[in-house]
Amino acid sequence: MTLPLIVPTRPFAGQRPGTSGLRKKVSVFEQPHYLENFVQSVFDALEGFAGATLVVGGDGRYYNDVAIQTIVRMAAANGFGRILVGQRGILSTPAASCVIRKRGAFGGIILSASHNPGGPDGDFGIKYNAGNGGPAPERITEAIWRRSEAIERYLTLDTADIDLARLGVTSIGAAQVEVFDPVVDHAELMATLFDFAAIGELLRGGAFRMRFDAMHAVTGPYARAIFVERLGAPEASLVDAVPLPDFGGGHPDPNPVYAAALVETMFAPDAPDFGAASDGDGDRNMIVGRNFIVTPSDSLAVLAANAHLVPGYARGLKGIARSMPTSRAADRVAAHLGIACHETPTGWKFFGNLLDAGLATLCGEESAGTGSDHVREKDGVWAVLFWLNVLAARPGESVEAIVRDHWRRFGRDIYSRHDYEGVDVVAANGLIADLRASLGDLPGQRFDRGDGSVARVTLADDFAYTDPVDGSVTTGQGIRVGFDDGSRIVFRLSGTGTEGATLRVYLERFEPDPEKQGVETQEALGPLIAAAERLAGIRGRTGRDRPTVVT
Ligand code: G1P
Ligand code: ZN
Repeated sequence: MTLPLIVPTRPFAGQRPGTSGLRKKVSVFEQPHYLENFVQSVFDALEGFAGATLVVGGDGRYYNDVAIQTIVRMAAANGFGRILVGQRGILSTPAASCVIRKRGAFGGIILSASHNPGGPDGDFGIKYNAGNGGPAPERITEAIWRRSEAIERYLTLDTADIDLARLGVTSIGAAQVEVFDPVVDHAELMATLFDFAAIGELLRGGAFRMRFDAMHAVTGPYARAIFVERLGAPEASLVDAVPLPDFGGGHPDPNPVYAAALVETMFAPDAPDFGAASDGDGDRNMIVGRNFIVTPSDSLAVLAANAHLVPGYARGLKGIARSMPTSRAADRVAAHLGIACHETPTGWKFFGNLLDAGLATLCGEESAGTGSDHVREKDGVWAVLFWLNVLAARPGESVEAIVRDHWRRFGRDIYSRHDYEGVDVVAANGLIADLRASLGDLPGQRFDRGDGSVARVTLADDFAYTDPVDGSVTTGQGIRVGFDDGSRIVFRLSGTGTEGATLRVYLERFEPDPEKQGVETQEALGPLIAAAERLAGIRGRTGRDRPTVVT
């Protein structure tokens, strides 16, 4: 039997996981021992996995295959008994969550930098998910980081690469490595939640056309297996459905800027009825109707309000959870349904405890993430199927009609996020620090509402969260400024970027009057945008006169 090799190493600074794992440039990960140090730190932070199962896979980006071979050897050397690897190294983030749960694995390692660009000059990422299928809680990610700061050795094996293309089991050291089909388990789970018969009828009928853009990222094989093979949608419904290591040079982030091709198709005269896209690792979703983009905050609210039409959720929702910067649209549905709406910090890891404890069924983030208790990650293909199920159950109603009807019932939370990407780190930190310092002076301050009236600040704080399940406290999660007319501005810095800092400014205003709900979003938010500038001095500090991305 092959004995583990003990390789001496020294710590790398900065291996602290962010919003969603450790993300760095590929060139950083390619340094000798860099990946190994982090992987060993993960294993050292865990206990009791001898002989247990580990799931490994990724979004297919550049370096995915190399990293998988390294991780498989190290997992075997560290004592895992069985290592499940997605064929060709492919495993979407939600499918990884599904497989961890279904196979009773100890945990999983997911290789992805989500929506960040890939390729030799792009980004790479790695994160650990626990046995519930969800991202490791902060207690574990902080332990991994502390370990990485003191690491002196890692364990590996001197064995040949495994064949990632061939399904089946091989042995390395004392471990069994099983290369498995990465789409089957997830597709089967979807079939238990949604009315595949009704959706299939809709897609095969010929009168309804959909277009799914996989952005050359991981969802291509999932979309083919589910939409085409199981539900009978024409092959032409899929675009960019072959995963590429550099995502075809694109930015696999399903928003109106980076999925411009889909938006163009959906706004053309002969547009399909339904458009959707997913991101690098398949956990995000964008939903577009004909001539109509659904904002993710609205999408969560609409799904919650229509969940009774979907078999897997028809028995009722236990609760809804949304990240703090996500609009309050879902809160209105929760109030109507008489269920709780939980407000958590940004990042899916905070939903895990709520889902495990049965306090929430649906979760969502403004950043195109929607999901439920079926797994412990957000799930792009799931969100698309949920919409298709709702459309099948409300025959003749378009995506736009369903959203406008929702606004009439619940009011419209006019919402936008402005991102300033790649700004100077010192300037961005200074902006947030000064806002934080000014919090005490803000309540009572008056801002022009654009129609001659004024709004007063009623809330100014730095969001902190106490987990209702384990009592853990997370602080410094974003500056919130709320006004007496229900408007809100949130300022926070991204925890997933790899270059400079990204300032995110989240803006929202409530419009209950159906007559006024048709307004253009940026125009309607104009006075709030001006207030954000006055509060934070964004232009002067970042040197930018406009955001890089507006969603
Ligand atoms: C971003 C999103 C956040 C999401 C995360 C991972 O994090 O804002 O909602 O959970 O990506 O997909 P951020 O860069 O803002 O820290
Ligand atoms: Zn993602």
